[in-house]
Amino acid sequence: MAFPFINSQKSPLWKRIRSDDSTRLRLKYDTYYHIFDRQEGTRVFKDGKEFIMLSSNDYLGLSHHPKIKEAGIEAIKKWGSSTTGARLANGGRIFHQELEERLADFLGKEACHVYSAGYLACASAITGFAERKDLILADKNLHSSLWSGIQLSGARCERFAHNNPSHAAEILGYKETDNNIFVLEGVYSMEGHIAKLPEFVKIAQEYKAFVILDDAHGFGVLGKNGRGTANHFGMTEQVDVLCASFSKSLAGAGGFVASTKEGIDYLRSHSKQTIFSAALSPASCACAQAALEIMQNEPEHQERLFKNLERYRGILANLELDTWESETPAIPIVLGEKEKVYYFWKALLEKGIYAIISIAPGVPPGKDLIRTAISASHTEEDLDRIEEAMTYAKSKI
Ligand SMILES: Cc1ncc(COP(=O)(O)O)c(C=O)c1O
Repeated sequence: MAFPFINSQKSPLWKRIRSDDSTRLRLKYDTYYHIFDRQEGTRVFKDGKEFIMLSSNDYLGLSHHPKIKEAGIEAIKKWGSSTTGARLANGGRIFHQELEERLADFLGKEACHVYSAGYLACASAITGFAERKDLILADKNLHSSLWSGIQLSGARCERFAHNNPSHAAEILGYKETDNNIFVLEGVYSMEGHIAKLPEFVKIAQEYKAFVILDDAHGFGVLGKNGRGTANHFGMTEQVDVLCASFSKSLAGAGGFVASTKEGIDYLRSHSKQTIFSAALSPASCACAQAALEIMQNEPEHQERLFKNLERYRGILANLELDTWESETPAIPIVLGEKEKVYYFWKALLEKGIYAIISIAPGVPPGKDLIRTAISASHTEEDLDRIEEAMTYAKSKI
């Protein structure tokens, strides 16, 4: 009897797999893919040791909200685990439609389409609209989901310096085509910078450009009741397409694209990620809807987030740590060299704080950093411990 794994190991590809430096170094330094065996609020546990989670994007601290848990459980009881197929093939369900209507209404857009991952939603926001002959103007520091969408669209792409509207305008000045498309993030996930949306929109209007805004980290955080970056600037109308993930402030899984009704109808005919990927699950849909209601009815979470953010910023400022001028709860600690990042991260772990390393090429050269995110659910005691650990880690580099 032939063993398929023995056959496949004859492929020379296995040589590449076995000699890969990124994988070898990751396994050697054990920096990523940790497994926790228990979680209680902001505390996670591994091998009997407790850590305060300081790198998840649960900005509003809703991941254990009783109303969200209950909504997910009820949805599974009523609808089962999955609709097992793409909506084009075996139809959506009333709960998809309800969530889409509520999201669109909340955001101030006409229509919306929900996806089973934020990555899929954000890639789709581009592939659903951009074509080969179009010109995409992309911020150099975009999230991977947007680069995937750009590549898959086949459109020409010019990258402009991070959050630099005049560089984008300069490129447009000599590259203009019929369809110019801006791709921006509302809040840049690694840097915590807010997009200079008013300036980009002004240029976009001058060049009749289409604006796509990924607001994964602005949704729930900025704007009225967390309506996001476009709402924060009063520019929802001027942004043609909004997309975001449910896995940050909504503390769920999935994502959405919102636009005009015409725009969403068009996307449903053109984006392969929309046409050929299975629908958002009943539980994920119900959890997202419950979280959306909480965002509207319980403003205390957003208030608490900003109170915590103020204290956390103060801690980092007192220690003179470089936070790359982050303006939001996504806060990098830039140390500039991967060795420093590693020792800082180890010291935080030693003191029971869990954060994440991000080094070049994931970040620009010289910007190697520890990426942290503050949550509404961090307690005063958590912040005391974070302060102590940051002081210790600083002393180690
Ligand atoms: C800016 C941005 N867009 C999209 C995504 C993808 O979202 P998800 O992780 O929910 O698939 C992320 C997630 O990190 C993100 O930071």
